Amino acid sequence: MEIVVSGTRPTGILHLGNYYGAVRNYVRLGEDKNVKGYFFIADYHSLTTHNNPAELKVLVKQTIATYLACGLDPEKVVIYVQSDLPQIPELYLLMNMLAYKGELEKVATFKDKIKIHKENINAGLLTYPVLMAADIIIHRAHKVPVGKDQEQHLEMTRNFAKRFNSRYEVDFFPEPIAYNFGDELVKVPGLDGSTKMSKTGGETNAIFLNEEPESIRKKIMRAKSDGGPTTMNQEKPQEIINLFELMKIVSTPDTLAFFDNAYNNCVIRYGDMKKQLAEDMVNYLTPIRTRINELINNEAYLQRVVSRGAEEARESAAKTISEVRKIMGISYF
Ligand code: TRP
Repeated sequence: MEIVVSGTRPTGILHLGNYYGAVRNYVRLGEDKNVKGYFFIADYHSLTTHNNPAELKVLVKQTIATYLACGLDPEKVVIYVQSDLPQIPELYLLMNMLAYKGELEKVATFKDKIKIHKENINAGLLTYPVLMAADIIIHRAHKVPVGKDQEQHLEMTRNFAKRFNSRYEVDFFPEPIAYNFGDELVKVPGLDGSTKMSKTGGETNAIFLNEEPESIRKKIMRAKSDGGPTTMNQEKPQEIINLFELMKIVSTPDTLAFFDNAYNNCVIRYGDMKKQLAEDMVNYLTPIRTRINELINNEAYLQRVVSRGAEEARESAAKTISEVRKIMGISYF
């Protein structure tokens, strides 16, 4: 059985890029009978930069609802909240003894974050990769579906796992690898001409999974385009490539081919293309939006899912911790 673990910081309702780039792949992994999947909300990690209790409550619930609405099935994978597993902070503490200040200070995400949060350079931020390693190795995972931006964290996880194995002369933790679905990983572009849909691009760049049809239509009609092609088979500028990329995701191959031909023959009308894209986008997202709205209002169900998930995840985590304690000599009588 292959163990797969991945976490998401609770950032609330995700956008199309998060769905298509990440959550959809969790769902596919969950369908694989040879995979044991653990998917969790990394609420502790979000505390390294945020400190708003009321907001955290809302964001965690929204993130769970989004996971479920996207099709992650609690019957097939384990869905839980990080802070429901006391074994994670315990392993984090133990792994901190194996993590060097020097290597932590060199991590790119740490260097970026301390530039943005000069007033709050806390130890949690420095040891973020140790906590992430604990998240992963607590289930002795083999694969971690994450984006490229997490590659360095994963390399550190492997280092910590290796260091533990060699220091205690055991072969206990596997060295987990990033699992990014090879060529299938499609980057979802933004609506503002940028190559990546991102939350910080906000109002003009991203389409959120719970976005109302009217708002989707407005955003797409306002998406960046150019003056149109002037010669046959002309290369497309980035903002036009983006519209076609989005169409590839939500429209039929026939629709895509129709507008591609129109572009190549210089008869394309971007207004028509955007209208079509908007309708296809609305149809694509409507089931997810409906489901998110249902789930957000069903707190009892959300709670049931994560408390069951936590129970199962704790079982796996407790096994690991008890072995780790034995290996490290933390068992005296
Ligand atoms: N650091 C990850 C991110 O920012 C979130 C995360 C925390 C994570 N723990 C993890 C991802 C464990 C995979 C596995 O996206």
